[in-house]
Amino acid sequence: MNAQMDWGMANRLSKTIKPDGHCFYLAMDHGYFQGPTHSLEQPGKAAEPLLPYVDALFMTRGVVRAVINPAMSPALILRVSGGNSMVGKDLANEEVTTSIEDILRMNAAAVGISVYIGSEYEHQTLMSLARLVNECSAYGIPVMAVTAVGREVEKMEPRYLALACRICAEFGAAVVKTYYCQNFEKVTGGCPVPVVIAGGPKTDSELEVLQFVYNGMQEGAIGVNLGRNIWQNESPVGMARALQALIHEKATPQQAYDLFLSVKQGGK
Ligand code: R5P
Repeated sequence: MNAQMDWGMANRLSKTIKPDGHCFYLAMDHGYFQGPTHSLEQPGKAAEPLLPYVDALFMTRGVVRAVINPAMSPALILRVSGGNSMVGKDLANEEVTTSIEDILRMNAAAVGISVYIGSEYEHQTLMSLARLVNECSAYGIPVMAVTAVGREVEKMEPRYLALACRICAEFGAAVVKTYYCQNFEKVTGGCPVPVVIAGGPKTDSELEVLQFVYNGMQEGAIGVNLGRNIWQNESPVGMARALQALIHEKATPQQAYDLFLSVKQGGK
């Protein structure tokens, strides 16, 4: 950790990046533009059994306040951008939704904001990132920038993602969340701050998820911010336990998968 870093910033970062340098964030912010996403209709119930396995929960303030026990032990990463929806005109049209006062009041260990580089709203979302970093830096709060692509899934390739991640780092993001892709080391290699892998739609097999997380970490990512591939699985606890083993216990994808199967057979 940077010796010049303010104590508060270092303290918050230590809650979201563990001593092994790795992290496991549970993403449950989807409702901010998708409404009651499948398996996340009751986010409190979905989150509760998973919290013991993760380092941080990524959610909006409204849902946190409504359904999350304030005594929960993982850190809170607040999703603080929005302003769009699945049925709206453009997913990229986001701004900051949450004041610095509320970020502090909720005791967030970090905040997350999406930027849409290459979209019509590139400038707007990047300037939101800049303002958020300015405001949060004053209070020692790390910002996680999310390189969002909206419906343009063809952007999930190394040249675009490397460009987007680097720009987020240049703007002062403490952590950048992006998609796993081929030649992922190009993305992590060009980004001077830690990179976290985002999930994406539920895959056909658990092993596929465990393999791309493993590969991504071998290629420089420090961990994941994963949602649907955990809580849309038949055994959400099995997936959370398997990912925890992969991220923090040096398990191979096969060992993590075996762990998943044993938890699933136990009925969780
Ligand atoms: C983007 O920031 C989304 O809101 C999610 O946090 C992110 O996509 C991770 O969730 P999933 O693994 O379901 O894609």
